Amino acid sequence: MADATHLSMVEFLRFSPSLPGGDTRLIELAPSILSADFAHLADQIHAAEEGGAALMHLDVMDGHFVPNLTIGPPVVASIRKVTRLPLDCHLMIENPNDFIPAFAEAGADWISVHQEVCVHLHRTVELIKHHGLQAGVVINPATPVETLSDILEFVDYVLVMSVNPGFGGQKFIRHSLVKLAKLATIRGQRGLNFRIEVDGGVAMDTVVEIVRAGAEILVAGNAVFGEGHPKEQAAKLLKAATEATWQQV
Ligand code: DX5
Ligand code: ZN
Repeated sequence: MADATHLSMVEFLRFSPSLPGGDTRLIELAPSILSADFAHLADQIHAAEEGGAALMHLDVMDGHFVPNLTIGPPVVASIRKVTRLPLDCHLMIENPNDFIPAFAEAGADWISVHQEVCVHLHRTVELIKHHGLQAGVVINPATPVETLSDILEFVDYVLVMSVNPGFGGQKFIRHSLVKLAKLATIRGQRGLNFRIEVDGGVAMDTVVEIVRAGAEILVAGNAVFGEGHPKEQAAKLLKAATEATWQQV
């Protein structure tokens, strides 16, 4: 087995978990409301849910860590009232420790924080778990997987950003495939259980490679809420993603 920290773009397929007949991973869709019509948010969420969404991805931005502003705990609390799906809160904010209790109180089920803003990442992960939530860590496109080595055993999921965070509808960065495959390989080698999530540019033209590289939880904003009906768009994307685990590479 090659060193998992030096996988090339060609090697990622060889070491990905999608070996013929052996890929039984649960693939789940997490629509991001960032691209939804906020004036009709409950309807949009229900439509995505009918299309097979397993959780709702809520992007929280502070205008400092990323150049955009979005929602805070009051909106999460309102969304909590209109869906039973787990709420996957992706915190793109500085000082996340200051806000984790408020998001937990608002009804978040999963909270992920960026490695790049957490000086004491283990403490932050433990704070999320202290509230009884699933704890995730996120890395930007320029942050190496290797920076997560000593936190992997403590997290429930790892989120690989496949665009630079801040906006929906951006182009998928293909190097993310290498990072997904590295994580899947490291998880297997170390016998860990964290799940692998991907966020940014997940669409019909990228989803097959993304799943084959190792992603299991697929965040999709534009592909679900951008054009067409969210129910049909979600169902189509989830079908393509699930079928990608059946097909021989
Ligand atoms: C970007 C957000 C994403 C965004 C993805 O900073 O974290 O969740 O909604 O949007 P698409 O799927 O359109 O790339
Ligand atoms: Zn996100």
